[in-house]
Amino acid sequence: SGVPVITVDGPGGSGKGTVTQMLAKKLGWHLLDSGALYRLTALAATRQGVALDDEAELIRVAASLDVAFEPTPPGEPVKVLLGGDDVTGEIRTESCGDNASKVAVIQSVRDALLQRQRDFRVAPGLVADGRDMGTVVFPDAPVKIFLTASAEERAQRRYSQLKDAGVDVNIDALLKEIRVRDERDMNRSAAPLKPADDAQVIDSTGLSIEEVLDRCMAAAGQA
Ligand code: C5P
Repeated sequence: SGVPVITVDGPGGSGKGTVTQMLAKKLGWHLLDSGALYRLTALAATRQGVALDDEAELIRVAASLDVAFEPTPPGEPVKVLLGGDDVTGEIRTESCGDNASKVAVIQSVRDALLQRQRDFRVAPGLVADGRDMGTVVFPDAPVKIFLTASAEERAQRRYSQLKDAGVDVNIDALLKEIRVRDERDMNRSAAPLKPADDAQVIDSTGLSIEEVLDRCMAAAGQA
């Protein structure tokens, strides 16, 4: 495909979600939040009483996901519909993220979601957010970014987000959850979280979201 793609991979809480939304808006390109597809697979499975290690049933759930994404202003999460039902808040919980990372270790589930992700590559361009956008889904992407931040900083950001949303959380528990999920994402055999060989690594620790956006635009050659 001649349609350009900017891939933005990295661990959760690195600022990827906000930055990819801002990049897409700035460039006037489409946006793929691939993590949402794994979260939706986990949520749909739970709703249908499918166990998170039942491979055959999970493949069916992933292949038959009825999802729609509706754009929102940057900073606000993209509106996500599952079977017409607004699940925007429900898929963002820590437990849904944790369940997503459990179904995401299964290669056949990843395969079932592959074409759906590639279908987002439509003119004038795509900004794709995930773990394996640059390594597996869009290996020919002309621009690949790997966004990281220390686990402590990611826990702090998540803590502030949840606190602003009125959710009572413990920062040590958050840090522990982040480490468990990082571990699972980096050490799985199916599409482990790692920078593509040709990715530009940006560490967002200590940077504001605007600074991260500037570095990403520079990496994309659009500064
Ligand atoms: O990015 P987000 O936190 O929404 O992703 C949820 C989980 O989905 C991740 O922890 C990861 O296990 C999985 N995922 C993945 N590949 C992607 C995007 C997300 O395995 N491209």
